[in-house]
Amino acid sequence: MFEDIADQLKKAKDIVFVTGAGISQESGIPTFRGKDGLWRKYDPMTLATIDAFYQNPKLVWEWYEERRQNILSAKPNPGHLAIADLEKYRKVSVLTQNIDGLHQRAGSTNVYELHGSIITIKCTVCDLKDTITTNFSQLPPMCKCGNMLRPDVVWFGEALPQDIWKSAIEQSSSCDAMIVVGTSLAVSPANLLPVYAKENGATLIEVNPDKTPMSDIMDLSLRSSAAKALPELVNLVA
Ligand code: APR
Repeated sequence: MFEDIADQLKKAKDIVFVTGAGISQESGIPTFRGKDGLWRKYDPMTLATIDAFYQNPKLVWEWYEERRQNILSAKPNPGHLAIADLEKYRKVSVLTQNIDGLHQRAGSTNVYELHGSIITIKCTVCDLKDTITTNFSQLPPMCKCGNMLRPDVVWFGEALPQDIWKSAIEQSSSCDAMIVVGTSLAVSPANLLPVYAKENGATLIEVNPDKTPMSDIMDLSLRSSAAKALPELVNLVA
């Protein structure tokens, strides 16, 4: 079983990774739905929706600032580094649901942030978009146009950035292999990407200690952590 998947992976020229919070868990960033998950402590409906933001912008900003500080002190782990390393041997695209920027910090150069980024902000009214480089003196921070700034992330009920989503579908529909790492595949539309890959005949591999709703369509499920399994997978291909 593993051998023939290994052969298919070795032959793959165009490899797409779909990643979620689990790949950053070994960098010390809590996942959302695991036992230490963020959603255990906070109700998503009170923090990650546009309504919640307008009802209590200060609380939502405090939550994101706490996460941003944690993320800035985190380091890419061997899972992120293995994906970056693979670019030396194959065409690699990373379609990530994470907003932590760790793939880019590990050296990956072809990263699509499906749910935005915690280090960029945008104005709620004008078209200002900027990278956060300092701590804010007040929360919520205000734009020079006089309106509130918001984290440049995708909240429940909001559309994904259309250009990024279009590219994600194209990449998933044309890759030879898709490796799904550290995601519960609980949130749409990102959880559709493995279906596009499967329809295109790609080899599907899942790296997750737990089963997911799409484990049945995977050609191989590695019940392992990202930091352990990904370096082994990359060694197969390198
Ligand atoms: N290595 C690999 N997988 C892991 C690890 C690890 N070390 N630790 C946990 N996991 C797995 C868990 O088993 C779980 O299936 O990672 C997955 C994390 O799932 P979630 O916490 O639901 O995170 P994610 O799938 O990224 O959530 C999707 O939901 O809350 C929204 O916008 C948010 O982008 C997020 C989206």
